[in-house]
Amino acid sequence: MEKAKIAVIGGTGFEKLFKNAKQIRLGTPYGVAPPISVGKIDDKEVVFLPRHGPDHSIPPHKINYRANVYALYELNVQRIIGVNAVGAINSNFKPGDIVVPHDFIDFTKLRITTFYDESPVTHIDVSQPYCPEIRKFLIENSRKFGRRVWDKAVLACTEGPRFETPAEIEMFRLLGCDVVGMTGVPEAVLARELEICYAAVCFVSNMAAGMQERLTPNEVLTVSKEITPIMEQVLIETVRALPIQRESNCPCANALKNARFKA
Ligand code: HPA
Repeated sequence: MEKAKIAVIGGTGFEKLFKNAKQIRLGTPYGVAPPISVGKIDDKEVVFLPRHGPDHSIPPHKINYRANVYALYELNVQRIIGVNAVGAINSNFKPGDIVVPHDFIDFTKLRITTFYDESPVTHIDVSQPYCPEIRKFLIENSRKFGRRVWDKAVLACTEGPRFETPAEIEMFRLLGCDVVGMTGVPEAVLARELEICYAAVCFVSNMAAGMQERLTPNEVLTVSKEITPIMEQVLIETVRALPIQRESNCPCANALKNARFKA
């Protein structure tokens, strides 16, 4: 099996990281993941998985999140950086801004959110839902490119594939959410369940429903295409900066410790 330590999961408009990279197809107990590219950034092995498939054919509610995360686990990935397009709920956030969320609220409805359906009953701690070490390096490196960077934000994850109603967005705002997207959960949780470090780097593609006249996927894609070269650089710099060994006291690496009911 290949040895890869860092993975990037790309989202809308971000379907490629390496040119001419070797591609692999991996089966898992949960199904087959989209083609995964294997490349290098300096000396570090990095794999890239496009969560919507290489030609953006899988909608958010149909993504096989378990197969995707498990395929990376099979590749010995220890850290995942997820990239997401998001709408701004907080009116201070604007299209083109970069956001490194520190927390999320899960409003999805139909997704399988765990690997642990059977005994031993497993309750993962998500008091720090995103890996603090990866977040730190994402924030530092996002700041190098002249974009506004939000180093704290609560992400609302919706089921999709439709966009939200203005009333839903107003509710999310009242609950303290800053941005909304359709793909952040359960990816982050599934990674934690396998003790893989995970953090997300998002870019604002639009103001959320009710804050601008109407929403179209093309608008999301246009902003995404515009910011992709910057997001690529953020990822490359972050991968370069991350130490080889992850922090030993990281909440992700020890997630299964004390997480199980003992019969
Ligand atoms: N809502 C949900 N998902 C999104 C949005 C949005 O406004 N923009 C980009 N992804």
